Amino acid sequence: MCYAIPGKVQSIEGRIALINYFGEIKRAVHELALLAPGDYVYAQGGYVINKVSAAEAESVLSAWKEMFFTLQETDRVYSVFSLANQPADPRLKNILNKATEGKDLTPEDARVLFSREKTEEINLVFKTANYLRHQYHKNACCVHGIVELSNYCRRNCFYCGISSYNKELERYRMSMDEVVDAVSSAANNYGFKAFVLQSGEDCGYGIDELAEIISRVKKRNDCFIVISFGEMDEGALRKLFAAGARGLLMRFETSNSALYEKLHPGYSLGKRVETIKLAYEIGYMIITGSLVGLPGQSQEDIMNDIFFARELHPEMFSCGPFLRHPNTPLAGDIFSDEQLVFKTLAAARLILPREVTIPVTTAFETLSPRSRLQGLISGANSVMVNLTPLKYRKLYSLYPGRAHDDEDVSIQIKETVALLQSLGRAPVDPGNETIDKNSF
Ligand code: 5AD
Repeated sequence: MCYAIPGKVQSIEGRIALINYFGEIKRAVHELALLAPGDYVYAQGGYVINKVSAAEAESVLSAWKEMFFTLQETDRVYSVFSLANQPADPRLKNILNKATEGKDLTPEDARVLFSREKTEEINLVFKTANYLRHQYHKNACCVHGIVELSNYCRRNCFYCGISSYNKELERYRMSMDEVVDAVSSAANNYGFKAFVLQSGEDCGYGIDELAEIISRVKKRNDCFIVISFGEMDEGALRKLFAAGARGLLMRFETSNSALYEKLHPGYSLGKRVETIKLAYEIGYMIITGSLVGLPGQSQEDIMNDIFFARELHPEMFSCGPFLRHPNTPLAGDIFSDEQLVFKTLAAARLILPREVTIPVTTAFETLSPRSRLQGLISGANSVMVNLTPLKYRKLYSLYPGRAHDDEDVSIQIKETVALLQSLGRAPVDPGNETIDKNSF
């Protein structure tokens, strides 16, 4: 099984290709010199990665065909749901109905969602989010790999285990060859097509070296690269874009600027958001989001984070619970509201534009082994696999006890595939937009 399946280009308009996956049409941006209707391509994250021969594509597709329809049916059965006859506060039902009609929710609506305390009502929010995920993305699920290339960091984020506060942490920096090998082995052995390269800020590599890593990775593999190296200026962003990076992962962490400054002394939310806006203007796909449950953060702040993200044109909204790390200034603060983080994920699905991908992040999974499943049935349509070599993985200690910290890639994949299959999810590119096949 591979982590993306090929689709057939149905039509092309400028940089947008419409791609047919067994009758489902998805949109993706393409930059290939020669691409024509009838060509087979792999796409990831709404981006065409490469062309494949008809023979190769047809052999993968014929192996997939039966499975694809079985998966679709499983997902459909899990997702069908009607709000009628559900016992709930009429105000809540109105808001959920509004969301299922594709209408924008207001902050007042979001307040109603977040303030639910009854289990049945919270479950209704989760089910509506899952229904919308199915409506918008069908059973497509993105599987991205992440390589954490260095844990050196100059920042002083109060919550983060690799920040400069942590004097006890052994620091590492993978060599260029190690990074290129980790990516290439995941691409060759498991068919990964999308990679996040992440590190602490000012991780010991200069921008030219990071650009070299990206171009070497791109030379060896047809893939989509997301960079996550912290804040950078326009020149650096342009250099990495020229080297082949096409996505930027950078959470704004909290949209409450006073809280941001408290948790990041000497830094500002405005400056951080500047990097995100610049990257968007350059042409990067934006992955951003926030932490949930930070000390001093209110429910209103968390809700505002979703609306704040909406303004940043996110391709993906990434959130996760704050988890206490003993060697940080927030060592004494314990995350206590698991429900809140799932509420945030589900509310994000209801509030953000339909094309936004929502991952179940590793911090969710660290909460409990069931969280990945819970996230996937509460609005999420993406999962991560950690490709950092095992000898370094534990040292990328953002928080203690990180899920998958000692699991070989092959084990993570086995578990991921089993979970996705049990839910009827397929590793199809979710694309920028799903178009109803009946409209063609
Ligand atoms: N708990 C949860 N998430 C954390 N991150 C950093 N430290 C923690 C923590 N203690 C997240 C931040 C950062 C991402 C790489 O990891 O949101 O952007």
